Amino acid sequence: MIRVAVIGCGNIGTILAKAIDEGVVGAAVLVALYDVEAKRCRVLASRLRRQSPRIVEGLEELLSTGPHVVVEAASQEAVRQYGPRVLEAGADLVALSVGALMDEALRRRLAEAARRHGRRVYVPSGALAGLDAVYALSLDEIRRVRLVTRKPPRSLGLPEEPPGPVTLYRGPAGEAVKRFPANVNVAAALSLAAGREAEVEVVADPGVEQNIHEVYVDAEASRLYVRVENRPSPSNPRTSLLAALSAIALLRRLADEAIWIL
Ligand SMILES: NC(=O)c1ccc[n+]([C@@H]2O[C@H](COP(=O)([O-])OP(=O)(O)OC[C@H]3O[C@@H](n4cnc5c(N)ncnc54)[C@H](O)[C@@H]3O)[C@@H](O)[C@H]2O)c1
Repeated sequence: MIRVAVIGCGNIGTILAKAIDEGVVGAAVLVALYDVEAKRCRVLASRLRRQSPRIVEGLEELLSTGPHVVVEAASQEAVRQYGPRVLEAGADLVALSVGALMDEALRRRLAEAARRHGRRVYVPSGALAGLDAVYALSLDEIRRVRLVTRKPPRSLGLPEEPPGPVTLYRGPAGEAVKRFPANVNVAAALSLAAGREAEVEVVADPGVEQNIHEVYVDAEASRLYVRVENRPSPSNPRTSLLAALSAIALLRRLADEAIWIL
């Protein structure tokens, strides 16, 4: 049984906790829930049928429940605040707010803590697809890596619908995750997989209902084009359901004594 603690009881945390509760993850037990808004943990816990996680008031209390894996589904700030300590306490970290990992100093701190304590940081593929191939290509040579993210204007926080598509940002991934912290975690995941900073374009498009990500990779071994059309989560239109499912899939790999590792 892997013991899982969740930081962030919003959209992704809720879907993940329910998946553990319903047995989708496999041999996993939910040991703790934490959110700066404690009420969210209570609401979530009341919706669970089999699991009875402790609702904690801070990180140290969460760690005292002895998790093997701590899932961060909160914010980039949460990765900074809690990530290194989670690893030092001997738990693995699953980071959903991947944008935080564009900060090289934080990446180094996490890597050092993980190495010192024999732990790992897992980055789920999130709202993207094809990161396995991007990582494989990075072991040879990638010449260019580019991401175009197209979302309905309301998902990008625009107060009014523009008459047509508007490019809100064009530039490096590091800056994109600062300007759109809740929207382009995918840019960070892609950059980590590629081993270089992706070029990013963010478009508010009144003509789309879905969150669309297009990845272009020009590498020595292959040229890659991946287009993902994600349905926004009803409870948080900035987040795609696929992101939560990718975290569930990752936990399932960790929990199961799986034979097929996909
Ligand atoms: N990797 C990906 O592809 C991907 C895709 C979608 C979302 N995300 C990221 O995952 C995270 C969770 O997404 P969501 O849709 O569930 O968001 P959400 O806003 O629905 O929920 C986040 C919850 O975390 C809590 N929280 C925020 N900061 C906290 C902190 N420092 N300590 C404790 N609790 C804190 C909030 O109170 C909230 O309840 C976000 O950062 C989002 O940007 C990643």
